[in-house]
This record gives sequence, structure tokens and C-alpha cells, in this order.
Amino acid sequence: MSTKIIITIDGTSSTGKSTIAKRIAKKLKYIYIDSGAMYRALTYYAIQKKYISKTHYFEDKLINDLESISIDFKNNILNNRFEVHLNGISVENKIRSLEVSNLVSRLATFAELRKRMVATQHALGNEKGIIMDGRDIGTVVFPNAELKFFLESSLKLRAKRRYDELTLINENITYNQVLKNINLRDSQDINRSNSPLKKASDAILINTDQLTLDELEIKLLSFINPLISKNL
Ligand code: CDP
Repeated sequence: MSTKIIITIDGTSSTGKSTIAKRIAKKLKYIYIDSGAMYRALTYYAIQKKYISKTHYFEDKLINDLESISIDFKNNILNNRFEVHLNGISVENKIRSLEVSNLVSRLATFAELRKRMVATQHALGNEKGIIMDGRDIGTVVFPNAELKFFLESSLKLRAKRRYDELTLINENITYNQVLKNINLRDSQDINRSNSPLKKASDAILINTDQLTLDELEIKLLSFINPLISKNL
């Protein structure tokens, strides 16, 4: 039997965090949690309720609703994927729109909302055997995780990756809109005072520019395997 650990992957937008995390989770039979999907689901809710738009943000109204909003993950047996659910309904396909992407980092600056998201994330990590990606997972959510990665990659490459992903799901979008959105979110995520995006001092820094997915997987597993095969 192998030792179950917590693995965190942080980094700027579109560095390939979720793609590689899903692959590793499948290989190790770990649970993969996309923490960004939780902030996106909350943003989607706030948009539906007209609490947030380009011109206004009624944070108090959203905070008032927090108690009655449920955000969790359920396995979709059709594709064996953990999908984010908002009040019991999968919103996995609704939360990747440009509208959500343009508002999510603003919403994610608020301490009260983050506190709530972090509590759910802690509960998910109770059993270990989990891989979670986001912005503050190695610094705030699981500062004692056994293994932490921080992925980086050039802005243009990230924008190209995300643009290709979005055009595949038919999102009507231009490369420049994607580039602008990623740039804006990076700067909001890095510069916020509450749980800013930064590399944990004990995280392993990996630049993914020159790596294929297979190469990235081999690299991550070279750090993971020795840890999980300890104490056999
Ligand atoms: O997929 P991508 O890397 O573009 O972003 P995401 O993981 O879906 O996260 C969307 C946004 O949620 C980020 O730009 C952050 O503003 C926020 N977020 C956060 O504040 N903390 C996290 N742990 C995860 C996401």
C-alpha cells in the first residue's frame, strides 16, 4: 500500500495546472479538486443574481446569501470527472465563459468569500489522497501539504493554450480577448492583499514552456513517487 499525501499545484492562469493535475490524479487514483471552479461557480451565481457586473458589485448581498449557497464536487459517472455543483446542479460547462473569467478575480479578492471556500477545501483534504490546484493552495489552504508545485509559463503561450481550449468548446472569442483576460487576472491575483498568488517557499518551481504534457507528468511523478512509496 502507498502512503496517501496532499499535492498542491499553484500558478498563474493557463499554465496547465488542471490538465496535469487530472492526469496525475487518474494515475494515482487520487481525487482532483479544481479550486478555481469554486470561485467561478460563486461568480456564476452572483452574475445570475445580478450582484456583479462590469459596473457594480453588491458584495453584501452575496455575503448574505453565502449560508444558503452550496458548492461541492460530485463525480460524473459518464466521464468519471469531479464536477463542480452549485446548489446541487452541475455548472461545470457554464463557468468557463469569458463573462465569468472577466469577473472572477474581482470576486476572489474578498476575505469573507475566501474564508468560506477555504473551509470547504480543507474538508475535502481530510482524507488525503488529493491533488488540488489554484492560487493559494500551497500557501494558505494546505501549508503543510507533503508536496507543492508552482507552475509558470510565458504569457503568450498561456493565452494561445487557453484560446485553443475555448474555441474547441465553441466559445465565441478572440485571441486578444483571452490575452487581455489572463493578463488582468494575473495582476489581480498577484496584487490582492488577501491570499495573493505567490510561490510557497517550499514549492517546486517548474516552467512548462518547453515541456510536453508527457514530459511534465514524468517530472512531477519523479517528485511524487518517492514520497508515496515511503513507509511501504
Ligand atoms: O483555469 P485558470 O487557471 O484560468 O483559472 P481558475 O483556476 O479557474 O481560477 C479562476 C480565478 O479564481 C483565478 O484567476 C483567481 O482569481 C481565483 N482563484 C483564487 O483566487 N484562488 C484559488 N485557489 C483558485 C482560483
